[in-house]
Amino acid sequence: MNRRSFLLAGAAILSLPHAAIGQQHDHSMHGMPGMGMGGDTSAPSDSPALPEGAPLRELPRLENRSREPGRFEAELVAAPARTSFATGLETPIFAYNGLSPGPVIEVFEGDSVSLAFRNELPDQESTIHWHGLPIPAEQDGNPMNPVMPGEDRTYAFDLRKGSAGSYWYHPHPHGRTAEQVYRGLAGAFLVKDRDDPIPAAYGDSLLVFTDLRLSADGTMPPNGMADVMNGRIGDHVLVNGQKNPVLDVPAGTARRFRLLNATNARFLRLSLAGAGITLIGSDGGLLEEPISGVKELFLAPAERLEIIARFDEPGTTSLRTQDYDRGWMGPNRPQEARLDLLTVRVSQERAPAQPPLPQMLRPIAEFGAPALNRRFVFTETMSMVSGGMAMGFLINGAAFDMNRVDIVSKAGQVELWEIENQADMDHPFHLHGTQFQIVERESAGKVARPPYRALKDTVNVPRRETVRILVRQDLPGPRMYHCHILEHEDLGMMGLVNVEA
Ligand code: C2O
Ligand code: CU
Ligand code: CU
Repeated sequence: MNRRSFLLAGAAILSLPHAAIGQQHDHSMHGMPGMGMGGDTSAPSDSPALPEGAPLRELPRLENRSREPGRFEAELVAAPARTSFATGLETPIFAYNGLSPGPVIEVFEGDSVSLAFRNELPDQESTIHWHGLPIPAEQDGNPMNPVMPGEDRTYAFDLRKGSAGSYWYHPHPHGRTAEQVYRGLAGAFLVKDRDDPIPAAYGDSLLVFTDLRLSADGTMPPNGMADVMNGRIGDHVLVNGQKNPVLDVPAGTARRFRLLNATNARFLRLSLAGAGITLIGSDGGLLEEPISGVKELFLAPAERLEIIARFDEPGTTSLRTQDYDRGWMGPNRPQEARLDLLTVRVSQERAPAQPPLPQMLRPIAEFGAPALNRRFVFTETMSMVSGGMAMGFLINGAAFDMNRVDIVSKAGQVELWEIENQADMDHPFHLHGTQFQIVERESAGKVARPPYRALKDTVNVPRRETVRILVRQDLPGPRMYHCHILEHEDLGMMGLVNVEA
């Protein structure tokens, strides 16, 4: 539907029935005050300030309990916890092993991994999904395999050669993913290569971006109408759980960073003025060769990037958000530009000379000609239902049904997927279980091919654009594809491909 009618219909929303917004549990939206469009997304004046400027912390690693070489064993418990973001205020959160972001899982290609998961969340099922990893479907935390409150299960998988990359993990229960993630459940999952071509002298720093909204009393308010439509945008973007932390480096430093957008719905367009940026990796690991002279970085929700940042001049710079219009529904579009996410102080002292980046990082094999083409169309709808208006975020006209197989595919078969966004906002498309390659983008009749080959599991599909990707699933089983604005996923902007052996 067009934007104008969407807005008119939207203005009529007073109450939203259960069915329209997926499962609502402890916070029914019936008759909640302030449920009109907007008004509840930009930082309210009573939102507490957060302390800034602490040294950037390294996220704790998940400890390996196995002594056996090539084996990683650990436990992850999802449970309520408390933390303090704003001085003097306690915030109840959800955490993995008491931590948010969750502990970093760091393993090697070829490792066999066993993760025991216990769900101690109150009255809600959960799963852990291993976002981007090429692992068996039954180990991938699908919504069809929930872990009930008080129960546990072990996820076990082997990480094949060539799978090194920056992945992540988060819950994937049907209808509750958005809430479990914004309350704190998400962590990085790094698969490393013992023969990593990137010089160790560059270090390896992880930057995990999350989004936080706090009420005056320090609690996290539930999602309102504008959040459900646009995806939740908080008051603060945190890096490794900190607001605008500081990194001190000597002049001449080249440093490797892995960036992970673990927010529910924020599109991060970032600059780092004065630093030289070289792009070296994407969602599924290294590019074929480094791309130097990069001016800005773009991470849709769930995307990852690996870069080398070179700080030659003494002074202070910051990783800063730039304006990006992702198609906001309703009034009160939040101010998302010019936020300093990380401050880098470059001292006069000179760093020791560092080895150069290799010119070739790794080969990425071409997929070859597709056996077939498929088309996926994103739309947004509004319809009357008893008691109010229902919003729909649809793929090929349908909302997710875990008992319905949307498409059947074959393991090992190359397919061309065309994803067309006919809606009025950007929707980042994600596919489970594999890494795809972007072929081209088409907008207003103009076709653009990406300037380099990369492995991806998430790609932004801007409104009114079409993205074509080459897909191959190597493992059989049911796989999800969905919009990674988690509120849209919960509303059903998701489908199921069953891959046959
Ligand atoms: Cu990161 Cu189906 O999700
Ligand atoms: Cu995923
Ligand atoms: Cu979406």
